[in-house]
Amino acid sequence: MRKQIAAANWKMNLTYRQGEQLLDDILNAKISLKDQQLVVFAVPFPYLIMVNSEIADAKNYFVAAQNCYTKKSGAYTGEVSAEMLQSIGIKFCVLGHSERREYFAESNQMLAEKINICLAYDIAPIFCCGEPLSIRESGTQNSYVEKQLKESLFHLSTEQIRKIIIAYEPIWAIGTGKTATTEQAQEMHSYLRSVLAKQFGDDVADELSILYGGSVKANNAKELFSSPDVDGGLVGGASLIAGDFIEITRALK
Ligand code: 13P
Repeated sequence: MRKQIAAANWKMNLTYRQGEQLLDDILNAKISLKDQQLVVFAVPFPYLIMVNSEIADAKNYFVAAQNCYTKKSGAYTGEVSAEMLQSIGIKFCVLGHSERREYFAESNQMLAEKINICLAYDIAPIFCCGEPLSIRESGTQNSYVEKQLKESLFHLSTEQIRKIIIAYEPIWAIGTGKTATTEQAQEMHSYLRSVLAKQFGDDVADELSILYGGSVKANNAKELFSSPDVDGGLVGGASLIAGDFIEITRALK
């Protein structure tokens, strides 16, 4: 059964203490998750071990890194490898967030390498895609996002693609308070699923979780997640407020 996922992306926010407090507040809510529902916290590198140990006893809760490097190891000062993440028990890694594509020049090809190294270390990539406003305004968003998928994911085997979580995050909706409408999200998600079905088969595509990201809030999550092809959200700002993220998690199908 397809997983429904509430993923928090803390980005570069919160001190260690604030992160601990936020996590405590969320875990204290004791949200009961169904078997197909997962909660994932994508947190800054220095907090990974702390969050992983805090959630150790909580069923269906996971921690994710927000990035990793393309290489196995070596003289790459400041970078973090998939092997390092694996060695501290990390099972998920966000890759290709639009902020990394924009500020750190991450290309589709580089992301294909990052996908490969994560999979080699048994880390499930949360692969982000999504178009900028100019592309949406020109009406070419489908082919733009399709290219991102093709260039970063289409070399994978069906066994490998099953491990990927997709997050569709239209850039014009990130941090802007301007959410895609339920129709816009559903339309793109169903298009992406059809693109994936052509390459990997209907059964595989049907099992893939496609999350929506971009100004998901406590008051719009339920409606967004109610769409048949929207399998939860990747949440920025609202994931930093315990009450809001709890409500978003409760909105999962
Ligand atoms: P916001 O929820 O703050 O718009 O951020 C979305 C996002 O980038 C999640 O990765």
